[in-house]
Amino acid sequence: MKTRVAILISGRGSNMEALIDAASDPAYPAEIVLVLSNRPTAPGLEIARGAGIRAEAVDHRQFGSDREAHEAALDEMLRAAGAELVCLAGYMRLLTPRLVDAWEGRMLNIHPSLLPAFPGLHTHTRALEAGVKLHGCTVHLVTRAMDEGPILAQAAVPVLPGDTEDTLAARVLRQEHNLYPAALAAVARGGSSDVPSEADCLANPLPWRASRP
Ligand code: GRF
Repeated sequence: MKTRVAILISGRGSNMEALIDAASDPAYPAEIVLVLSNRPTAPGLEIARGAGIRAEAVDHRQFGSDREAHEAALDEMLRAAGAELVCLAGYMRLLTPRLVDAWEGRMLNIHPSLLPAFPGLHTHTRALEAGVKLHGCTVHLVTRAMDEGPILAQAAVPVLPGDTEDTLAARVLRQEHNLYPAALAAVARGGSSDVPSEADCLANPLPWRASRP
């Protein structure tokens, strides 16, 4: 039996698409049963529908400032669809404890940094400003504290000379599309996953010259 998964998005939906693609493999241990967006115009909704997945908008603006009412509507649809896991994939609303607690241990998120470095927004710019030599992405369980839940999987990319926010974001995004399906599969299988070899580790010793007095 495949694990039933719902995905929450707000926009482009490329991570959602990577999960849908992975789940189209008969051997994949999860199936995508529902995509929900808080934005009716999210391009990801059409991508999901094009793949034959039920995709609905639950517009947060219709609920004014009542975040819990919006989440109650989402929760009802998640349960009606028989979702067992929820994947946040570029879902740009902060969740209240109500929804987080309801899905404790069963809600995953992908974040574009190597947490605990750079929680929150603008991760690529902040990574460039900090001068880190490795950057990447993290799949973690969602808890009440934003971007602080238990880490399930990470992928690193090098930061290269001349990188801009866009080039670095694109390099990280390619890894997000590999990592999220792999992490979801591991959770759906009950935690077992392939452990990478030491040879797969990534080191990034960029040339460095001491400044002359
Ligand atoms: C990704 O970078 C993801 O890590 C972050 O938001 C972005 C969503 O992109 N949480 P997409 O909608 O999946 O293309």
